[in-house]
Amino acid sequence: MPSVISIKQFLEDQKLIDTILGRAAELQTLKGKTFPDTLRGRIVATLFYEPSTRTRLSFETGVQRLGGNIISTENAQGSSSNVKGESLEDTIRTLNGYADAIVMRHPEKGSATRADAVSSIPIINGGDGGGDHPTQALYDLYTIRQSKGRSDKLKIALVGDVLHSRSIHALTQLLGIYDNDLYLVGPESGLLGDDALAEYRSGNARVEQSSDMESVLADADVVYINRMQKERYADEGEFEKVKDAFCITPSTLTKMKSDAIILDPLPRVNEIDPAVDDDPRALYFQQAENGLYVRMAILEYALGLL
Ligand code: NCD
Repeated sequence: MPSVISIKQFLEDQKLIDTILGRAAELQTLKGKTFPDTLRGRIVATLFYEPSTRTRLSFETGVQRLGGNIISTENAQGSSSNVKGESLEDTIRTLNGYADAIVMRHPEKGSATRADAVSSIPIINGGDGGGDHPTQALYDLYTIRQSKGRSDKLKIALVGDVLHSRSIHALTQLLGIYDNDLYLVGPESGLLGDDALAEYRSGNARVEQSSDMESVLADADVVYINRMQKERYADEGEFEKVKDAFCITPSTLTKMKSDAIILDPLPRVNEIDPAVDDDPRALYFQQAENGLYVRMAILEYALGLL
């Protein structure tokens, strides 16, 4: 059964993307009604070595809505046998004896690949350090399609910690398979190197970098912003210099297109003024809810039910 480790595994398979997002749309129509119990009898383990609100709780809600059960360590870093020195591999081997799938988050890039290498049950990557976040990108794409009616021929600004944000990394690659204009906007000291940029340019989208948010916002159909990732900065002084680099305020809204949308994977720290929340373009809480339906579809996929 398939693991979901990296957004790269979807880039060559638009049909799979459409199947998962189509199933999510079907599930969304059942909101407030009864969901099918496709996961009945299945146990999903959530293994989180890093803080999480949406990723863990949306997966756990999704499992329960579909009639499955959860075993969970919401603080594996501090309360699992990790504290005693157990390796990630041994923890995964152990959970293989208990659960039918594992949703994990870990601070090290590549950790989900390591877990998958020793696992006989599917691994779903809920974020590996500054690396990848495939399930986030899939529901970001779902939200863009839902509100704009398409996922191509769009001008999309991806603003914030472009160097460290796994959400921006994954979404840039996913949007890159379509004919889009992507603008990565980060602080001068936090832009992508040539290699990463060349990789992101290998798809069908045009990808530019800038440090000037205002210059790209006026044209943007989608503004995707993510907080500066404090936990990824080894040097606190460096973080202090960039922590307030970007903020969407009511004044920013006046410069944006009237039908643009604003997305944020959340948590919001200071990158969006709460005064923006009531603007019809602010879709980040709808985006978070959409994560539930897309993750329900991803669970069905990983368990061989889709
Ligand atoms: C993101 C993450 O963990 O990378 N959060 C999420 O899953 N919604 C974004 C972030 O932490 O800034």
